[in-house]
Amino acid sequence: MGTHDPHGFPGRLIVVEGIDGSGKSTQLSLLQTFLVSEGYDVSFTEWNSSPVVKNTTKRGKKKNLFSPTTFSLIHATDFADRHERSILPPLQAGLIVLADRYAYTAFARDSARGCDRDWLRNLYAFATRPDLALYFKVDIDTAVARITGGRIQLKFHEAGMDLGLSSDPITSFRIFQSRVLEEYGRVAEEFGLTVLDGARSVVEQQREMRRLVRPILKGLRRTLAPRAPAASVPAAGARREPEVSAP
Ligand SMILES: Nc1ncnc2c1ncn2[C@@H]1O[C@H](COP(=O)(O)OP(=O)(O)OP(=O)(O)O)[C@@H](O)[C@H]1O
Ligand SMILES: [Mg+2]
Repeated sequence: MGTHDPHGFPGRLIVVEGIDGSGKSTQLSLLQTFLVSEGYDVSFTEWNSSPVVKNTTKRGKKKNLFSPTTFSLIHATDFADRHERSILPPLQAGLIVLADRYAYTAFARDSARGCDRDWLRNLYAFATRPDLALYFKVDIDTAVARITGGRIQLKFHEAGMDLGLSSDPITSFRIFQSRVLEEYGRVAEEFGLTVLDGARSVVEQQREMRRLVRPILKGLRRTLAPRAPAASVPAAGARREPEVSAP
């Protein structure tokens, strides 16, 4: 197996990390479109989406019933369920699994909420090591501007309002997300996450993302030939240029 095989499964696992508003979902969705157009089989999974804990999470959040520990455990349950059902099977079947947030999110957020770092690492010890973990690093101002620009209100928990840091959601967001950001720095170093400058344009970041993804696709089987552009059919053997071409 090559150097890009941290797990021994035939598929590939690519994860994105970063604070709220860092541009993870935007970039991952563009990557997904690109990979599918290149003929790869792709499976997507996102943080906090397992049906197993959905109602409990919703109720607990609404009534603010969680402590940092129980909040962390419910996310770990969500993750364990998705790991079994939505991450391992496609990896075993040779697909590319794209994960919007991974265990590193728990390491950063939950320790910012006061959970013990070693306890968290132990809790997630079963998590498959990704082939590529991208960390979209942005400053708090950029994140706040993006989030408040796109939405009416900051969500209670993303602003860390459960911690009673401030009664003003924006102030609370700044304090809480600064802690998360600091933890992300630590986590990025510890686990060797690939850091991207999340403040750059969508196109620049996507170009870099594709450049980073390309080497880990070597040897991976495609189910379809890369889709030819609609307007012109390239000559046999000609490679189609992606919409955002790699440098
Ligand atoms: N490079 C960029 N430059 C400017 N705006 C961006 C950029 N990337 C994303 N945005 C915008 O910022 C907002 C947040 O982006 P996105 O939803 O991708 O972030 P996220 O990291 O997935 O956040 P969350 O953790 O809350 O899901 C969106 O309105 C998006 O259109
Ligand atoms: Mg997102």
